[in-house]
Amino acid sequence: MTEKEYLHSHSTPMSDALQWLERETHIRTNHARMLSGREQGSLLSLISELARPSSILELGVFTGYSTICLAKGLAEGGTIHAVEINDELEDLIREGYCRAGIEDRVQLHFGDAKQIIPQLNCSFDLVYIDANKREYPDYYRLVFDKVTPGGLILADNVLWDGKVLQEPMPEDAQTRGIAAFNDMVAADERVENFILPLRDGLNIIRKLS
Ligand SMILES: C[S@@+](CC[C@H](N)C(=O)[O-])C[C@H]1O[C@@H](n2cnc3c(N)ncnc32)[C@H](O)[C@@H]1O
Repeated sequence: MTEKEYLHSHSTPMSDALQWLERETHIRTNHARMLSGREQGSLLSLISELARPSSILELGVFTGYSTICLAKGLAEGGTIHAVEINDELEDLIREGYCRAGIEDRVQLHFGDAKQIIPQLNCSFDLVYIDANKREYPDYYRLVFDKVTPGGLILADNVLWDGKVLQEPMPEDAQTRGIAAFNDMVAADERVENFILPLRDGLNIIRKLS
């Protein structure tokens, strides 16, 4: 038995809806590696269940795997706003939400996250950033005042395959965007944070006040 098989056989299994969505994502898209997957999805669910947010904002839905994981922790009557630029994914996303029984709790927005965030007139107890890597610093600036004191901002892919610590650092816009974001968070006295080296790195940020 491999380590991964052992870990999976001793952890809560994925729901039927998530297993279905992972399979369909492989069959119906060319970018299945973007899906957060079992380990990270379980962590997102756990964090959300501990925080019990009334309102969640997710930037970068892809096929909806992380929406389903995050929605698990929503407080009674809570809502998750999910933002995705690629509307070709809509049928698959909505089918997954229905199978997970969360369709009434999700508001799905199609468009550029930078345009949509300012249009959302509500506050968020939990924000998950997983959209355009070049724009993480902008997302942080745009969402910050909408996050409730004590609220959480989770940002995925913050190690960017190790490129943010390469010397010299690659010049591409994604690496520069992630590096600037990590620097910005580390220097921000309004938050405390911890980068968990799970998969491609998850920055777990808590707004202090
Ligand atoms: C890594 S995938 C998200 C994976 C998803 N969170 C999950 O865990 O399964 C990134 C997604 O962000 C979307 N995206 C990229 N740029 C965006 C933008 N400017 N606004 C909104 N979504 C964007 C992409 O279309 C893609 O579906």
